[in-house]
Amino acid sequence: MCGIVGAVSQRNVVPMLIEGLRRLEYRGYDSCGVAVHRAGMPRRARCTARVNSLARTISDIHLEGSLGIAHTRWATHGAPATENAHPIFSRDLIAIVHNGIIENHESLKAILTAQGYEFQTETDTEVIAHLVHSFYDGDLLSAVIRATRMFRGAYAIAAFSNDEPGRMVGARDGSSLVAGIGETEAFLASDAIALAGYTNRFIFLEDGDVVDLTPGNLITWDRNGRSVKRPDRMIAQSLEGASLGSFSHYMQKEIFEQPLAIARTLGEIDALTPSIFNGADRSTFESVGKVLLLGCGTSHHAGLVAQQWFETIARLPVQVEIASEFRYRDQCHDPRTLVVPVSQSGETADTLAALKYAQMMGLDNTLAIGNVANSAMMRTTRSAFLTGAGMEIGVASTKAFTTQLIALFLLAATLGRVRGTVPSQQESAYLQQLQDLPIACRAVLAQEPQIIAWASEISQHENAFYLGRGAHYPIAMEGALKLKEIAYIHAEAYAAGELKHGPLALVTPEMPTIVSAPNDALLDKLKSNMQEVRARGGQLFVIADSGTGLSCANGLRVLETGAYFGLLSPILHVLPMQLLAYHCACARQTDIDKPRNLAKSVTVE
Ligand code: F6R
Repeated sequence: MCGIVGAVSQRNVVPMLIEGLRRLEYRGYDSCGVAVHRAGMPRRARCTARVNSLARTISDIHLEGSLGIAHTRWATHGAPATENAHPIFSRDLIAIVHNGIIENHESLKAILTAQGYEFQTETDTEVIAHLVHSFYDGDLLSAVIRATRMFRGAYAIAAFSNDEPGRMVGARDGSSLVAGIGETEAFLASDAIALAGYTNRFIFLEDGDVVDLTPGNLITWDRNGRSVKRPDRMIAQSLEGASLGSFSHYMQKEIFEQPLAIARTLGEIDALTPSIFNGADRSTFESVGKVLLLGCGTSHHAGLVAQQWFETIARLPVQVEIASEFRYRDQCHDPRTLVVPVSQSGETADTLAALKYAQMMGLDNTLAIGNVANSAMMRTTRSAFLTGAGMEIGVASTKAFTTQLIALFLLAATLGRVRGTVPSQQESAYLQQLQDLPIACRAVLAQEPQIIAWASEISQHENAFYLGRGAHYPIAMEGALKLKEIAYIHAEAYAAGELKHGPLALVTPEMPTIVSAPNDALLDKLKSNMQEVRARGGQLFVIADSGTGLSCANGLRVLETGAYFGLLSPILHVLPMQLLAYHCACARQTDIDKPRNLAKSVTVE
């Protein structure tokens, strides 16, 4: 989703802005641009192509400057066209980049039009530029403060005025924005990774903040117009993970990184104690009478798998909510609820809003599970668990998902330990199983050649079914989501017992059905469900544990995942589904790491 980078310095900042945009590419975008201050009139370059192409244009036109702002845009208001790309100018004086949505842009536009402003774009951002311009009397800071008071919605902005060459102003409410300080320069970015190597010193702005930046200095103002000191954080960032190595795509690399990511997430854990969770202690867990899991997309699927773990292991009631729906319903809340937002990026607007809604209802025992340290979610909750997936670049979440599952399993088991439902022998058994998991994952991933063969068939279809039962039903949902988003094949997941209640009508030889078949208590039921598909000529591709008795001989295609892995089995079964989506996408030659219309970090509602 949109990314912002800005810098004010005493040297040419354009190479740094371009590098920052490259690092934000993972968020997903459809156009990009850079603007710099220049005596007389600001200059800019914008395009609907990739950042590399923007960099070529910039070098051709010798765009340089010591004050500049840059942007990757993921279109919400207005098509992904060059004229809608940011930076947006107002009367060649004010330059703005923006992330978020100004919900009252139509009424603001009417006011500005009446004042004589002419709109050149279809964006909501243009109202920000003109509004700042309309308040501007030589002091950018006060113009931005006055403008932001009129916005409804979410925004992060970076702005400069061409009349003030050494100054940049930023503001945020609901969308992320971080400021960075160097010796003789100052920066803004939507994600600190954009500034890695340029500074280690960051200030995470809070909702309603406006920040005034000059080379080597910044002053922050809160929403009430008071000067505030936000804490500096020294963050050493690594760009590890940013190179592809021998892999063809980041998604493939990230799928194969999972054994390592899981091991990293487990770290040195040798006991299920509250201290595994940063900021938590025994009291965090003792009082819990219910767990509320909030997430979107893949992170929501992680919550659905974990629901069964919390119920089985900790004997706790669980509510799993799609974050974008949660706050629009009346909730009957239990004050003993542990609220767990699950988010790879920690910046997903829907999940953040759901978390805030829960906090507003008085549920203040909150524990975030995320993959980005210092993300909004990790800073907003009372305690947190940082997964060890490392930077995930492919838009489709893979290693972030399996490491979220590890974190959720640890949480369920730790709650069980505190509540007395997990005796110490069982604790050791769980820890041993977790330690054994990376090796089991490697064995499953080694079956990639068989998945490639499946993909050559499945990729020729436009529809597919995914079936699972119990904790493997959300794994089927995750497999279907992956196939849709990467290979653009329509896929639906069903709890296998549901098929005969309607979807069976769609089963024909043209409808491949992918089944997750663990060797668990529901196996016989699942086999009957598979028979229902076979009897209608459906093609079955079965991911099965050894000992299930399922083999290719019965007219099925079977991929063996090894012995049943108990409660952690869903983690092993999702791996072939990720690989299947990946290889179907390869066969269909889609843009795997940046699938159409999607963004990595979904910072608008
Ligand atoms: C799918 C995918 C998305 C994300 C969702 C939530 O592969 O990546 O469904 O899971 O947008 O994102 P986070 O986890 O960052 O909150």
